[in-house]
Amino acid sequence: MIITSCGNSINLAKSLAKKLHVKYVPLDVGEFPDGDMYMRFKAKSFKGKKLVIVQSFQPHPDMSLFDVIWAAETAKDLGARKVILVAPYLAFMRQDKRFNAGEAISSKIMSKLLNKSIDKIITIDPHLHRYKSLKDIFTISAVKLTANDLIGDFVKRKIKNPVIIGPDWESYQWADKIAKQVGAESTCLAKTRFSSRRVTSKITRNVEIKEKNVVIIDDIISTGHTIIEAAKKAHKKGAKSVTAIGVHGLFVEGMDKLKKHVDYIYTTNTIVHKTNKIDVLPLLLKELKSLKI
Ligand code: R5P
Repeated sequence: MIITSCGNSINLAKSLAKKLHVKYVPLDVGEFPDGDMYMRFKAKSFKGKKLVIVQSFQPHPDMSLFDVIWAAETAKDLGARKVILVAPYLAFMRQDKRFNAGEAISSKIMSKLLNKSIDKIITIDPHLHRYKSLKDIFTISAVKLTANDLIGDFVKRKIKNPVIIGPDWESYQWADKIAKQVGAESTCLAKTRFSSRRVTSKITRNVEIKEKNVVIIDDIISTGHTIIEAAKKAHKKGAKSVTAIGVHGLFVEGMDKLKKHVDYIYTTNTIVHKTNKIDVLPLLLKELKSLKI
């Protein structure tokens, strides 16, 4: 096995290589003066090898997809027997239907392209909403890992007297499991999304929030508006503190607005960010160890 990265997740890629005692091969990703892609592995051949590309699809989701395809095709051209993509965060999954006439269903296009270029994909908590499983869009072997246990352990260690809130129905799959793991009560909000930046939400089931340390758990924190709406509800009900935990912290509009409503913000390191406090390395390590090197 050989490990590489196209630029995102370099630290995770290098740590995985170190822990697995396999080689990390650097990859140059750049461009020619005319803007054409330039790519070069620091290796002459991958003859007979399995290549693992560790690449989060943030930042630059479009380029990440393009880079992964380029890297996988180049690796095969250099003799690689198999190319496995480890995408700690897999983008495009939220566009899982045509919400407005004429739109692209990005998740389907992304998977169609990856199905052609790679042999296996491993990802963490992909946004599965209308799709029930990764098998709905991937024809290659597709493994879904979850950071639930890692987040549960973190909440147990860090937050006393918590109550867990899922800010929408999709997120309840995380919130409910983590609440059970830490032995806390949980509830879920019913969210209505009017646009990328405008959402409203209502509490669906009343739980005691007064004087509790509320933990809002979501898979993706993108603009942050989903978390902000949930935090407003928690404050209204007398929460002692509000913590937001995201598996994937995109923070596309920075953190200023969020910080006005939330006391603490933590994420896993599926996307590199200063809020990273939960390390997914053990999860990926276990999965890669189970593959024959
Ligand atoms: C959507 O269904 C996801 O689970 C997240 O709630 C959503 O992506 C968060 O987006 P934003 O931070 O822009 O509200």
